[in-house]
Amino acid sequence: MKRWQPVSVLSDIRRGEVAGVRIDGREVVLWREDTPTPALHAWEDRCPHRGMRLSFGFVRDDALGCLYHGWQFGGGARCRLIPAHPQVRVPASIHVHAYSVREHAGLAWVSMDGAEDFPVGGTGPDNVQPVRTLHVNASVGALRHVTGIAPDAGIAWHGPVGLAVHEPVAGQGMLHVVRVADAEEVPLPALSRWAERLRDAVESGAVTDRIMNELAMGELA
Ligand code: FES
Repeated sequence: MKRWQPVSVLSDIRRGEVAGVRIDGREVVLWREDTPTPALHAWEDRCPHRGMRLSFGFVRDDALGCLYHGWQFGGGARCRLIPAHPQVRVPASIHVHAYSVREHAGLAWVSMDGAEDFPVGGTGPDNVQPVRTLHVNASVGALRHVTGIAPDAGIAWHGPVGLAVHEPVAGQGMLHVVRVADAEEVPLPALSRWAERLRDAVESGAVTDRIMNELAMGELA
């Protein structure tokens, strides 16, 4: 089944920034243009020239440059400049594999298999801000169970707090935490510490009901 995965909080990919992520064991580079309306892109993290990771690269306006020999890739993920041969018209066949990407609920969502329908599991609240991402040494199935994410949803809302997970590699999980921006009754430092306690409990196999209840009651310790 085609699906979308929430792979990063948007605060980790600001204008002109590049970030490498793993999704289902595959390396993906997320990068945002340095333009007045900076679009977000998700590409295979591999330069088609000599295989350098593009997540080590740099953003030039609306293109991503490879650190090794400076090839630049722009619209349609096509190579548009080879600095050693600036006069060469680059063949259209030289391109990076691009994945579908969306921005929603303070998160970057990627489909590795060309899913179209979006958003997943309803729209959720507006005006959401990213909080943080944590690596959790536990399966995504366990994390979805603990956080209450339905099988057909990508995110679970607990009042003003959204919890989302994705699988970087088999048996590992990434937990993404977002919050409705003006929900100041849930302070960000306390929410961040709460997420760490949830991670620790999941990793140690401890019961998580009490920790999840804190979120439900809006009483973070
Ligand atoms: S490896 Fe990327 S430009 Fe050469």
